[in-house]
Amino acid sequence: MTFAPVTTPTSDADLFSDENLNDPFPLFARLRTLGPAVWMRKHNAWAVAGYDDIKAVLADHDLFSSFPNPALEPQRPEIPQGGPLGSDPPDHTRLRAILSEKLAPRALRTLRQDIERQADNLIAEVVERSEVEVVSQVAQEFPIRVVTRLVGLPDGDYRQLLILADAAFNSFGPANERTLASLPAVPGVWKYIAQSMSRESIAPDSWGAAVYDAVDRGDVTEEEAIHLLSSYLIPSMDTTINAIGSAIGLLAEYPDVWAAVRRDPQLVKPALEETLRFESPVMFFARGATRDTTIGSQPIRAGDRVVTLMPSGNRDERHFHDPDSFDISRTTIDHLAFGHGIHSCVGQGLARMEGQAILKAWARHVRNMEIVGKPERRLNNTIRGLSRLQLQVVADRG
Ligand code: HEM
Repeated sequence: MTFAPVTTPTSDADLFSDENLNDPFPLFARLRTLGPAVWMRKHNAWAVAGYDDIKAVLADHDLFSSFPNPALEPQRPEIPQGGPLGSDPPDHTRLRAILSEKLAPRALRTLRQDIERQADNLIAEVVERSEVEVVSQVAQEFPIRVVTRLVGLPDGDYRQLLILADAAFNSFGPANERTLASLPAVPGVWKYIAQSMSRESIAPDSWGAAVYDAVDRGDVTEEEAIHLLSSYLIPSMDTTINAIGSAIGLLAEYPDVWAAVRRDPQLVKPALEETLRFESPVMFFARGATRDTTIGSQPIRAGDRVVTLMPSGNRDERHFHDPDSFDISRTTIDHLAFGHGIHSCVGQGLARMEGQAILKAWARHVRNMEIVGKPERRLNNTIRGLSRLQLQVVADRG
């Protein structure tokens, strides 16, 4: 393929600096004006920041491959290779089918009542105290309880999963100080989690047991089984945690929206979707170009790394009207928070169920809430969310 000479838009910005992780939106807005793909000199990769361009890259798995993983620097030894997230068809199709058995809408339907009951119990218990630290007491606690039970892990201390998820998501970015600081804890925690996921430890009739059944049928290898079990446990943590933390934080920040949700609990659905658009928990995933191609008018070489910035697409003024306002009356839910194409989040039904259950229970049990102090942001190379959100709550005992 020959390319017409064009000026390559470039940027010296560090996508992963503290400043840009704290508030990436001014940088994202600049990148969107520079071109469909901007060469990030510091990262040796293209940043794709516009809604349509992100969607086009994610839709074309043939041209933009996820193998060996969707990290910025895929060959670094600490980053797992393969599994559903890091494969292309036909391997991807086979592995994803096993996860989908449990995560497809029909399979999830039977779980709703139980998840709503668990959410109700947790929130009823938490609001007994007049001050709640939402991130640790609600946003982290709930997905850990729900997912470890579904996967069939034995009783144990699964807050350790947060250490693994933090390191995994940092590693997807560059080997900066944040990544290096999160790695030393991994081997110890991994040993504990791997033991809990072993065939002997997993509960019968659980999601984990179904993965081992697939090994016995010869559908997946033992090594792939560990990838599949990890796929239930690791991407389901910080993502959902930050969606729940951000949703409650935004409802506390916007009292009118909160009042509307209290009046009409059906509004928990649009409130959660708008949270996912406005504060998308996943900052980026990357792909490798398999052939010379273009993104918009920008030539891309085979082998180039391409970083899709989902929260930027979700604030693209060419797609969303007044994108920087939190508005739950939007009628479209075509945000990119769960990605797009064949790798779009296989757990999105469960994430929505968990988020909606918590918000519904919150609306039922909390009459009033006020933010105490300044919410603190947790900086991670891939995941965006809060580390601390202290609220003064008045319980609804009516
Ligand atoms: C609000 C919560 C969540 C968000 C924002 C989120 C976001 C995403 C995104 C953006 C992708 C696309 C990856 C790519 O294109 O390379 C993805 C894939 C994935 N997610 Fe989620 N996720 C969430 C919850 C979950 C949950 C609860 C689970 C598991 C129970 C899960 C498991 C996965 C897996 C296994 C993949 C890989 C799918 C594939 O490659 O086919 N996620 N997620």
